[in-house]
Amino acid sequence: MRIAVAGGTGRIGRLVVEEARRRGHDAISLSRGEGVDLTTGEGLAARLDGVEAVIDATNPPVSDVAEAERVFATVTRTLLVAGAAAGVAHHVALSIAALDRVQGNPHYFGKRAQERDVARGAVPFTIVRATQFHDFPAMIAEWSIVDGEGVVPPLLLQPIAPADVAVALVETAAAPALGGSFDIAGPRTEDAVDMARRTFAARGRELPLRASWRGAALGVEFAGEVLLPAEGARLAPTTFDDWIAAGAD
Ligand SMILES: NC(=O)c1ccc[n+]([C@@H]2O[C@H](COP(=O)([O-])OP(=O)(O)OC[C@H]3O[C@@H](n4cnc5c(N)ncnc54)[C@H](OP(=O)(O)O)[C@@H]3O)[C@@H](O)[C@H]2O)c1
Repeated sequence: MRIAVAGGTGRIGRLVVEEARRRGHDAISLSRGEGVDLTTGEGLAARLDGVEAVIDATNPPVSDVAEAERVFATVTRTLLVAGAAAGVAHHVALSIAALDRVQGNPHYFGKRAQERDVARGAVPFTIVRATQFHDFPAMIAEWSIVDGEGVVPPLLLQPIAPADVAVALVETAAAPALGGSFDIAGPRTEDAVDMARRTFAARGRELPLRASWRGAALGVEFAGEVLLPAEGARLAPTTFDDWIAAGAD
């Protein structure tokens, strides 16, 4: 099956392209670095020739709520309109578990706009709502370095291995469209501060860390069980411990 991975050069998109090829699919990537800009549609139509499924793993850079809603909606509609014209049979969007529970975060506003437009679009769809990836706490610690310390909010997560997300996206793309969404999560809950410390240790990165909501990339609206997956979520096999033991990549 020919699968186009929008954002196929990104953190998760690269793994999706690799996983699709491993399963014998003909996978191509769509990104600005490869001549396809999904905010304008430049270069897109020609790349969708013969594509049966599109997996959207883009992450366009945005700085505020208004820009996030506008850019995520534009990228989504551009993909769907071109996909419908090219006869794409399944649009799979990577979204975030607990999306409706968090207000005030620009990325979440953008993702809600994306989900809304996927559901309104002319291409049969499935939305895969993943929990945070195993490298998420280390990533957000790098975003918030204050006086030489990485600030990590004390989140409760049920994180998932990036490679397991890639498997779920490729399996979903090859199956019939659900016309709805499902949550996918890792097998157990974890403490984000402990995860960040262990990720940096496994990678040999020396960055002192401080647990705090103040100065952190995510605020107290993410506290408690907010980020846990919905009841009945599909659970992927790779634990955080497994991922650390395999090198935290
Ligand atoms: N990290 C997590 O814990 C987590 C959890 C659940 C869901 N997610 C979702 O996963 C998605 C992917 O995240 P990521 O960290 O893998 O992203 P990433 O590493 O930042 O990669 C983003 C990809 O999108 C492409 N892109 C950005 N703007 C584009 C445009 N205008 N046109 C075409 N391509 C464009 C980038 O390539 P160019 O820059 O070359 O265009 C790149 O290939 C996000 O939407 C996020 O919500 C993440």
